[in-house]
Amino acid sequence: ITVKEYDGRYFPASIPDIASQWKLMQSFEADSNDVIICSYPKSGFHWIWEVVTMLFNNTSNISKELPAKYILEFGAVSKVQQSPPPRVLGSHLYYEELPVSIRQKKCRLINVIRDPRAVAVSSFHFFTKIKEAKLKGTWSGYLNLFLDGKVMFNDWFHHAQLWESVRQSNSDNPIHVLYYEDAKKNPFYEFKRLARFLQLDVKESTIMAIAEKTKFSEMKAPKEAAIGHNFGNAFAGNKYPLYRKGQEDDWKSYFTLQQNAEFEQIYKERMQYNKVQLKSIVNPGNN
Ligand code: A3P
Repeated sequence: ITVKEYDGRYFPASIPDIASQWKLMQSFEADSNDVIICSYPKSGFHWIWEVVTMLFNNTSNISKELPAKYILEFGAVSKVQQSPPPRVLGSHLYYEELPVSIRQKKCRLINVIRDPRAVAVSSFHFFTKIKEAKLKGTWSGYLNLFLDGKVMFNDWFHHAQLWESVRQSNSDNPIHVLYYEDAKKNPFYEFKRLARFLQLDVKESTIMAIAEKTKFSEMKAPKEAAIGHNFGNAFAGNKYPLYRKGQEDDWKSYFTLQQNAEFEQIYKERMQYNKVQLKSIVNPGNN
């Protein structure tokens, strides 16, 4: 794969100059009302961005914006800096890598976590469609890279461990955890919790409408129409391949029984060894 390495991290080759992008990002001046959705790639950032934006605007209308434009490490900084707070931002980075003003201003953070098996399948599809990534090959080959952390934004386990230890260390920032699978099962309940965390007074009927409007099946067509060809020819077929399946268990049609057993073993070792209290999203026998 031609991913770019910078400071021991793998980034999409499409970021032109990572060093200066990194510097620019660090100069971002956060407002205390800004919210940052922090997640490993392909964990549901775009979805939750829509939900949080709707909650802030007290509406169930889908925005015409492209959430990816609010991901700090992708060059969003100058544009975002000019928009009025509260801003709903995104990042795939570790806590220590976030712009320092986000910590100083004690911005609220939302950790979106998804079953890493679903993340692996989703990222396999997404990254193989980025032309510049030149990622070709089979699912099983990709799974090995994923388990070795040799994929964009590196190792899922490391990301999960670092964020878990930040949550346990009572960081300056209030952190809310949202599991993709929980939000799929009970969006109303999860979005109500989100509104409470964000201290937003949104009527239950509006939250109900938000849960309905942000369903994958409802959102895919209007959102794809709204964002159009914003990415030019960066992706295969010149189409932004974000809205793929949006399911909790699509990964089951990719993992063989043996791959799943190996994955569960690695998950158990790596998450337990590090005393991570992460809710057990990978349960042996849960397939
Ligand atoms: P799949 O590839 O499994 O379909 P991210 O936004 O972090 O890049 O995550 C992308 C994943 O979230 C994709 O998963 C995408 O389909 C899914 N997704 C996008 N919108 C969604 C929605 N409204 N509801 C559920 N999943 C959604």
